[in-house]
Amino acid sequence: MVNKENYICTQPFTYAAVFSNYVDICCDMWHTAGHVENSNVEDAWHSLKFQEFRNSILDGNYKYCSLRCPHLNTLVTKGESWCFVKKEDINLEDFRNPTLKHVKLCDNETCNLRCLTCRTDFKKGNAYTTLKHLEELKKLGVERVDVMGSGEPLAISSVKHWLRSFNCSDYPKLKQIHIHSNGQLFTREMYESFSEDAKRLIKSVEISIDAASKETYEKIRRGGSWEKLMTNLNFLMNLNLKEYHFSYVVQKENYQELDQFYEIVKNLVQVLESTFTSIRYTYADCWINEEDYNRQVKLPEECYENVYSQIESILKKSCQDKITVYTNISKNE
Ligand SMILES: C[S@@+](CC[C@H](N)C(=O)[O-])C[C@H]1O[C@@H](n2cnc3c(N)ncnc32)[C@H](O)[C@@H]1O
Ligand code: SF4
Repeated sequence: MVNKENYICTQPFTYAAVFSNYVDICCDMWHTAGHVENSNVEDAWHSLKFQEFRNSILDGNYKYCSLRCPHLNTLVTKGESWCFVKKEDINLEDFRNPTLKHVKLCDNETCNLRCLTCRTDFKKGNAYTTLKHLEELKKLGVERVDVMGSGEPLAISSVKHWLRSFNCSDYPKLKQIHIHSNGQLFTREMYESFSEDAKRLIKSVEISIDAASKETYEKIRRGGSWEKLMTNLNFLMNLNLKEYHFSYVVQKENYQELDQFYEIVKNLVQVLESTFTSIRYTYADCWINEEDYNRQVKLPEECYENVYSQIESILKKSCQDKITVYTNISKNE
C-alpha cells in the first residue's frame, strides 16, 4: 500500500465540475468537502470551502476523500495514478494559488436514454444554463472543456449548437474538447456537422458501454441499440483521437460480463497506449431514488467475489495489452 501523504491529487487544483446550481472541484460522490452553491464558476473556484479542501490535500491528510475515488484507490493499491504527483517532484508553492484549467459541464440532464442506473423517466434540462456557462468559459480561459457529466451531450441542443458554431478565436486558450457520451447519437453525420475548429479540438471521448451483449445492453440502457453502438464505435475508432476512454458501471444486470467487456475494448482499439478503461461502482446518491436503486441496480453482496476476480484478471491482462484500467472496485473499499 502506498502512503498518500507523499502525493498530491492535482484534480482540485486544475478542475471544476459545473452543475446547474453549484460548482464542485472533484466528483461529489468521492469526497465530503461539499460544493459551492449559486455562484459563478470563478468565485466558487476561489472560495474558502475549496481552499480548505485543497489544504487537506496539501497537508496530506485527505480527510474529505474516500477510496470510492478510482484515482485515489488506484494510487493506494497500484502505487501510481495519472492525476497524482509526488511531493518531492514539485514545488508546493505552485499549488497555493491554482488556476482553473479544466471544466466539466454537468448542467443539463437532457438525454436520449433512460438507463436503469440513472433515470426513472426521461429528463429535460435548461439549455439557457449551458449557454450561460459556455459564455463564462470564454472569459475564464480554460484549456479543456468536457461535455457532459449529467446528460447526453449529443442530445442537448445547446451543446450541439456550440460544437457546430465553435470558433477557436472565442476560446483562445482551449486545447481540448472531451465528449462523454453513450455513443448512440455519435454518428459520422453528427461528427461531420461540427465546425472544423471543434473537430480539431475534440481530442478525446469517453463512451460509456456498461454491457458486453445486446441483451444486457438493451435491458439496462433503455432506448439504446447495441448495433448502433457498435457501428458508432467503429466510426469513432477511425478518427484516431488522442485518447479513448470506455467505461462500465457495475450493477446487478451486467456484473457477469466484465471479462467480455474488456475483450470488446481490446478488439476495438488500435492505439493501445491511449486507451483507458474505467470500471466503477454505481451509486444511488444523485441519480435515481433509493428504492429503484435497490430493486434494479444494487449488486448483491454475494456477487462481489465474482467481480473482484474478473477485475483481477482484467488488470493482469491490461498490463500486457498496454490498456490502462482504472477502477474504484477493490477489496480495500
Ligand atoms: C450520467 S452519464 C452522462 C454522459 C452520457 N450520457 C453517458 O451515459 O455516458 C455519465 C456516466 O455516469 C454513469 N452512470 C450512470 N448511472 C450511474 C450511477 N447510478 N452511478 C454511477 N455512475 C453512473 C454512466 O454510465 C456514464 O458513464
Ligand atoms: S447514464 Fe447517460 S445515457 Fe444513461 S440515462 Fe444517464 S445520462 Fe442518459
